[in-house]
Amino acid sequence: MKILVTGGTGYIGSHTVVELQSKGYEVIIVDDLSNSSIEVLDNIAKITGEIPLFEQFDLTDAGKTGAFFRKHNDLRGIIHFAAFKAVGESVDFPLKYYHNNLVSLINILQGMMDNNILNIVFSSSCTVYGQPDKLPVKEEAPVQKAWSPYGNTKQISEEIISDTSKVSGIQGILLRYFNPIGAHETALIGELPLGVPNSLMPYITQTAIGKRPFLRVWGSDYNTPDGTAVRDYLHVSDLARAHVIAVERMLDNKMKQKVEVFNLGTGNGFSVMQVIESFERSTGVKLNYQIMDRRPGDIEKVWADTGYANKELGWKAEKSLDEMTASAWKWEKALAEKGR
Ligand code: UD1
Repeated sequence: MKILVTGGTGYIGSHTVVELQSKGYEVIIVDDLSNSSIEVLDNIAKITGEIPLFEQFDLTDAGKTGAFFRKHNDLRGIIHFAAFKAVGESVDFPLKYYHNNLVSLINILQGMMDNNILNIVFSSSCTVYGQPDKLPVKEEAPVQKAWSPYGNTKQISEEIISDTSKVSGIQGILLRYFNPIGAHETALIGELPLGVPNSLMPYITQTAIGKRPFLRVWGSDYNTPDGTAVRDYLHVSDLARAHVIAVERMLDNKMKQKVEVFNLGTGNGFSVMQVIESFERSTGVKLNYQIMDRRPGDIEKVWADTGYANKELGWKAEKSLDEMTASAWKWEKALAEKGR
């Protein structure tokens, strides 16, 4: 059972490779290493005892992607993570984002069609909902006009997969992630942001370790219990597990439609202040922070209705917020020990 994981040396990808290998799948990773490091392969092997197959190339290269699929026409499924993901950068460099995120998907789907490979799991985002009218947000909630080119590539990618499934045997599962945080319990793999992080959790741990002077809390005048913005944070290993279940659902022919959509979150919303409190509680470390104005483009609050994923996938996020923040800290400390 060979599964291709694109972006498999990245943050969510690497955790998913670990979960796949521990269920007995043979994994091949394709990654151009533009935002990840080759050492991740060894660290995966330290966890699972098995080094995944690996090919380094850029999936926007149609020639190389076509050749890859011809060589690996025995793939049973694909989990597609490889994409650029920095929201702010996508506003400054829209063509870079549209080109990378869409052309790579098109090349993959073409490779699948040409080689009769039928199953794809796609890494989507709750960003497609914008600020939903009703919370918790269900999968049927309307997709709102994307605020950033990054968000738009997620929406367009969902449509590309859907349209392709109508004219081919391809079936797809679109996983809309809420906010993945934390790291593997071994602290051998985790999030490795290039430069200054945009996301909350790595910013918190980098501040606590002394790489950043203080965390800026973006906005305290939201209509939320403590005024700071609310998100649905889930542990990356819980999220990774859902991908294995999605692959199995496809292989076992359990899908009810050719393209299915699932929200992946815990179903609980926590504010920025609650995440800071959890971090301080679970690690015993005090965090420097300052309240700032709102960050442009941020929404006020969002959390998932996870009922459909619970029922249909039999999946539920298990780790608590304190476990998430503690594991992120363990990872940051492990990086510091390696001088990273
Ligand atoms: C963002 C993207 C989302 C993407 C996800 C990928 C936007 C609008 N959304 O989600 O599309 O899928 O990243 O990981 O950018 N915060 C601070 N200080 C910081 C960093 C963050 O207060 O230094 C706050 C934010 O204002 C927000 C919360 O923490 O309220 C979470 O922020 P972040 O981790 O960046 O994720 P999102 O903005 O939810």
